[in-house]
Amino acid sequence: MKRLAGILLLWVLVLSSCERPGDPDNATLSLAPPLGLPVIPLSPDHPLPQARIELGRTLFMDRRLSHNNTLSCAMCHVPEQGFTSNELGTAVGIEGQTVRRNAPTVYNVAYVEQLFHDGREFSLENQVWGPLLAGNEMGNPSIGYVIEKIKVLPDYAGRFERAFAGRGPDVLTVGQALAAYQRTLVSANSRFDRWYYGKEQGALTTEEQAGFRLFSGKAGCSACHLAGEKHALLTDNRFHNTGVGYAYSLRLPRKHVVQLSPGKFIELEDKALDSFEQPLPDVGRYEVTLDPADSWAYRTPSLRNVALTSPYMHNGSLATLEDVVEFYDRGGIDNPQKDPLLTPLGLSATEKQALAAFLRSLTGDNVQKLVTEARAAQPADTPPAKDPASTYRRGY
Ligand code: HEC
Ligand code: HEC
Repeated sequence: MKRLAGILLLWVLVLSSCERPGDPDNATLSLAPPLGLPVIPLSPDHPLPQARIELGRTLFMDRRLSHNNTLSCAMCHVPEQGFTSNELGTAVGIEGQTVRRNAPTVYNVAYVEQLFHDGREFSLENQVWGPLLAGNEMGNPSIGYVIEKIKVLPDYAGRFERAFAGRGPDVLTVGQALAAYQRTLVSANSRFDRWYYGKEQGALTTEEQAGFRLFSGKAGCSACHLAGEKHALLTDNRFHNTGVGYAYSLRLPRKHVVQLSPGKFIELEDKALDSFEQPLPDVGRYEVTLDPADSWAYRTPSLRNVALTSPYMHNGSLATLEDVVEFYDRGGIDNPQKDPLLTPLGLSATEKQALAAFLRSLTGDNVQKLVTEARAAQPADTPPAKDPASTYRRGY
């Protein structure tokens, strides 16, 4: 009898140490792509257990991931603002510091092959250390500091271990958790997808349909913002010089209308504002490849959810989709390395309007759900009770 009890106990122990298929923490999420997008690229090294996604979501929302507990990933990639910042051309980091580029959306970031506007990073797992350590973004002094801090925050106790088979917070698991969450921010099945791929006749207005015909025809947009037979990433994941970066670097004059008193306006050139803010140098893809031919080239962004992600371009210099359409109608901004695909289009006012209307039909059907889930994961933000650096002890 004693022996039987012993065997039974052993059984229970063996069972509880295994990953049980019914355990929601360990259930691996299989993500079927929504209408309009291809299979989600998930490498076998990066499965998506539910516990890991939820942990990543909490980390993404947590202001304590910045050095002074003020700035979360979600404060630059704001869920309600298309996971970008609608009020800021270029991002603002810790203690109001200037960041030289526009915060891109993280919707559909699972499909991005080379991350950042210049493609300098290759995996979401590694990418997180960029903002976490940048002095003008989240400002942490070191990788170890971030890890020690997470260890002393009581609300993370046990969460890494549950998500990573007993492994605590470390340089890999922090990246893997944030990456797992971001890979789930897949969004399509827009009205365009239902019309084009789902053959739902009434899903687009006739104006939007005309806009798509221009997009893939006369206006030549789909040469870079690809739309295939089965799905549309709306990017070629490559780098092009459209002239935006060139104009900014060379400070080609841009006029600003400034109000002096009610009803009294003057036009000022950028140069007049020089004493306030110097432009930060930015040569785009050249900084990664050191090939002069890549000067001022930036990655083609996907246009999915573009109605939600203003302002536009790597420096947020175009405020509206109408401004973007005007920009392309002029053929971009001339410079010696401008992409030859960009030439003046000669679009009529009606055509421009149709093109912008089409771009607004690309909003995914699940954005509200993803926003709600993000906000529900917001942690309490209680700062650590003691200096995180003080927890570090040598193990010998
Ligand atoms: C201060 C604002 C700010 C914060 C905070 C911030 N980001 Fe970003 N993020 C940016 C900017 C700006 C870029 C583009 C930088 C570049 O291209 O050089 C970017 C780029 C990215 C990209 C690349 C997207 C693409 O399409 O290439 C990802 C992914 C990302 N951030 C995720 C995160 C995560 C995760 C966190 C938190 C750990 C975070 N960001 C915190 C502003 C921020
Ligand atoms: C030669 C390739 C190319 C062609 C053709 C092209 N684009 Fe782009 N598009 C880009 C690149 C590269 C960027 C990013 C530029 C930057 O960040 O400075 C971009 C950015 C955009 C953006 C801003 C998206 C964002 O999130 O900031 C929109 C909108 C856009 N393009 C729409 C269009 C439309 C509409 C057309 C056709 C009239 C078009 N594009 C033609 C390469 C192209």
